[in-house]
Amino acid sequence: MEISLLSSSLKNKAFEPALLGKLELRNRIIKAATYEGMTPNGIPGDRLLNFHKNITEGGVGMTTIGYCTTEADGRISDQMMYLHDEIRPQLTTMTAELKKSGARVSGQMTHCGNFSKNRHMQRLKRPLGPSPQINILGIPSGLPFAGAMTHSDIDHLVQTYHDAALLMKEVGFDATEIHFSHGYGLSQFISPKTNKRSDEYGGSLANRMRLPLRVLEAVRKAVGDDFPILGKMGLTDAVKGGLNEDEAIEVAAMLDQGGIDALITSGGTSSYNVMKMFRGDSIIKGMIEIEKNPLAKLGMKLLGPSLFKEYPYEELYFLDGAKRVRDKVQCQIVYIGGCTTMDSLETVMNAGIDFVQLGRPLLKDPRYVNNATAALNEGRNYINGCTHCNRCVALIEHPEGIRCPEND
Ligand SMILES: Cc1cc2nc3c(=O)[nH]c(=O)nc-3n(C[C@H](O)[C@H](O)[C@H](O)COP(=O)(O)O)c2cc1C
Repeated sequence: MEISLLSSSLKNKAFEPALLGKLELRNRIIKAATYEGMTPNGIPGDRLLNFHKNITEGGVGMTTIGYCTTEADGRISDQMMYLHDEIRPQLTTMTAELKKSGARVSGQMTHCGNFSKNRHMQRLKRPLGPSPQINILGIPSGLPFAGAMTHSDIDHLVQTYHDAALLMKEVGFDATEIHFSHGYGLSQFISPKTNKRSDEYGGSLANRMRLPLRVLEAVRKAVGDDFPILGKMGLTDAVKGGLNEDEAIEVAAMLDQGGIDALITSGGTSSYNVMKMFRGDSIIKGMIEIEKNPLAKLGMKLLGPSLFKEYPYEELYFLDGAKRVRDKVQCQIVYIGGCTTMDSLETVMNAGIDFVQLGRPLLKDPRYVNNATAALNEGRNYINGCTHCNRCVALIEHPEGIRCPEND
């Protein structure tokens, strides 16, 4: 397909400056949070910096540092980074270096809640979520049970988000993203599947949203009105008894009323149905290949087929849900999920969606924006080349972190 078939609105809209809240981005393409696996012993160093430098120098409007936990015990493994004072110098250097390219820098604040295999917990003895449950991920690490948070654990969690957001602003991040989805801490409270509490944090949707809304309020208090807060929400847990799309639209409305600047409309959960999030080839093959623990390997082989459902890849697999959210809220919308082609980008822009987050396409081609704009200017189509093999996902456990194996 030649450029003549692509409307000029695509060129103008996707690749031209836009405001995210009050922050100007040089275009509407944002690198999605993809946990990089590049913080050995939790320290963000040159590897993480260079990974994002490649992407920011490739033209994106903003990059997002993936899975920055708000406290040490919010980590799935002890190799993850948590936002705390001792890494201020590294974070300050990283944001300053990345911003030299003209891109903005965001970071995803998250917490694993009851989904962890971290044997080196600091404050807690075992992972905590809304309610007691089996922690499947933790079984091979000797953490088979997760407990329920007390009110004081909940207050502590809110405070960690506040402090982490403040730190992010102080070390030079331009925006922050709160992870409300994918089966991690806050989404465990939102989901009726994992939240079985009978106090004011469980039961009705209003109660299940109490903690996420407290977190949003605390983060806003920390960063002030001019600092964009994005929220990554789930359109569905895609599991029986979990969050469905009708309730998710209400979640969006509540976050909107709570003052979020932009909503990223994802779905699926790492705990129950991760392929809903990715679509394409099952990630289990790559995971088995790189897993070293024989017990975990065996568990994966046995449980793999039931844990990882087949969802054949299709472009724009979350677009219908994103449009429903768009129609419900006042805040900005960030599309995520299978936006690989220029046609898809145009479709998203034409749907009145403000920004696009790209995960795998930017792993495949960190220079996506520069290459796509060059192609458009020369009258050529841009082909990204991501095959949705999802082998990148398995590499989050690799000592050198994630990459697109198709580029090797
Ligand atoms: C290697 C990898 C790691 C990921 N890690 C995260 C993460 O830390 N936080 C998150 O919210 N989503 C994570 N995701 C999901 C992506 O942000 C995104 O929702 C998903 O890949 C679909 O978008 P895409 O089709 O543009 O890749 C990850 C995806 C990949 C491929």
